[in-house]
Amino acid sequence: MTHSTNYSEKFHLTAEKILIFDFGSQYAQLIARRVREQNVYCEIVRHDLSARRVQEMAPKGIILSGGPFSVYDENAPHCDPGIFELGIPILGICYGIHQMTHHLGGDVMKAETREYGHAEMEIIGEDVIFERVNRETRVWMSHGDQIGKLPTDFIVLARTETCPAAAIRHKERPIFGVQFHPEVTHSLQGTEILKNFLLKICRCTGAWKLEDFARVMQENIRQKVGNDRVICGLSGGVDSSVVAALLSGVLGQNLSCILVDNGFLRKNEAQSVIREFTEHFKMDLHVIHAKDRFLKNLEGVTEPQQKRKIVGHTFIECFSEAAKSIKGAKFLAQGTLYPDVIESGGSPDGPAATIKLHHNVGGLPEDMSFELIEPLRDLFKDEVRRLGKQLGLSDEIVWRHPFPGPGLSVRCLGEVTEEKLTVLKEADAIVLEELRAADLYSKTSQTFAVLLPVQSVGVMGDARTYENALVIRSVNTEDFMTADWSRLPYDVLARMSTRIINEVKGINRVVYDISSKPPATIEWE
Ligand code: XMP
Repeated sequence: MTHSTNYSEKFHLTAEKILIFDFGSQYAQLIARRVREQNVYCEIVRHDLSARRVQEMAPKGIILSGGPFSVYDENAPHCDPGIFELGIPILGICYGIHQMTHHLGGDVMKAETREYGHAEMEIIGEDVIFERVNRETRVWMSHGDQIGKLPTDFIVLARTETCPAAAIRHKERPIFGVQFHPEVTHSLQGTEILKNFLLKICRCTGAWKLEDFARVMQENIRQKVGNDRVICGLSGGVDSSVVAALLSGVLGQNLSCILVDNGFLRKNEAQSVIREFTEHFKMDLHVIHAKDRFLKNLEGVTEPQQKRKIVGHTFIECFSEAAKSIKGAKFLAQGTLYPDVIESGGSPDGPAATIKLHHNVGGLPEDMSFELIEPLRDLFKDEVRRLGKQLGLSDEIVWRHPFPGPGLSVRCLGEVTEEKLTVLKEADAIVLEELRAADLYSKTSQTFAVLLPVQSVGVMGDARTYENALVIRSVNTEDFMTADWSRLPYDVLARMSTRIINEVKGINRVVYDISSKPPATIEWE
């Protein structure tokens, strides 16, 4: 069995931290990113963390997130009221303000109308939380309940036309509540308000830096690993690449990386990863050429879930065989990120499992016993990218669009064959070349080609053709949970289409996918 280490807990990675209590808000991670943008380290924790545990963790402040509940719902989540007695500064946002009202002697009531969208807020009390904020400022509201009766010893700091207590504070203690959402950019001065809370009220120094994080992390890993060997799976994506680069700086030749080339990477991708890690980082890189094995296992398979399962199993087989051939490895490094940890309930203090379990290299055979190293488990994706730059990774890797584990096998609809893969790789390469040439690569979140198992009639020269159709898919998204199709300029699409039909044998028709997610997904299988 594998188990992992929560580094920040064990080695006191950061002296100063803010805890964000998660009441099920879709914005909890956004709050965390806003806090970190102020160079203040924070962690998202379960809403019912006990006051005693909070005291042990010694945060500089607490933020209570919003949530989809009413405090009077039968299953409404509640915080331990003891947290209000600790003397630690607290900011309640939306449902968070209802929590403090409910527990501190006030009343929450249904608002006459559900308020959703912009509201003009008037600040009526002097307070440091509104320093440098205009007396009238636009905020973003999204609530059905609001305060009916103020909690004991609280005063109103701001109001809107329909919400008489849009911001409140305790008369003496550093406990604040806001009905609006300062974390979303629609609240024009929300950042200023959060900054005041963090720096002026919680007295954080704002000195948390990614450079320090990397240095402390590397030192922790050095102590933990000693002279043992670490194995790291490389996919060419940014997460595993940053893990490899981070570890390589500490472990040198005691790090062995494994790249399983299943034939489903993009054109020239395996070569570029190999070049980067052997030439630039001089790593012990084991490349497993397994294209034939994958294709054989997929022969005749057309059902998407079945394809994914087979690719997953074959990957584990290849990886385990390669790992077994590397003698004396005690640790396995993975590029698990903070959102994965939160969503999988992977931290004892974190919110309960709500969405899905992530297993990056899950499913290794029982007889392979590794201890897990997950150096990125406290970081968000944008932080991982910044770290990658600092560690000297090329822009090409750091800014690479996400790529699904099963790779091109799920973009080659129906049965996957070598011929179809070749066609898809060539077409996909043209899509990306033209996207880059138009300076649009970094302006879209994910852009790729999908080969359809559909043939249609065309005419080329004087001859009739009957060939495959290819889809161009391009999306823009913040979190990949929802996405909108990218409005690529017609002339860029035209160049992609003309080049693909002229240069790639086997395609006579190109279409553009204009579906958003939901109801469509980003990938086609
Ligand atoms: P969907 O198609 O579900 O994709 O809208 C959302 C994001 O997830 C990526 N994706 C995967 N990533 N393993 C991965 O590591 C997978 O099996 C997988 N399937 C989809 C997809 O590319 C998009 O970024």
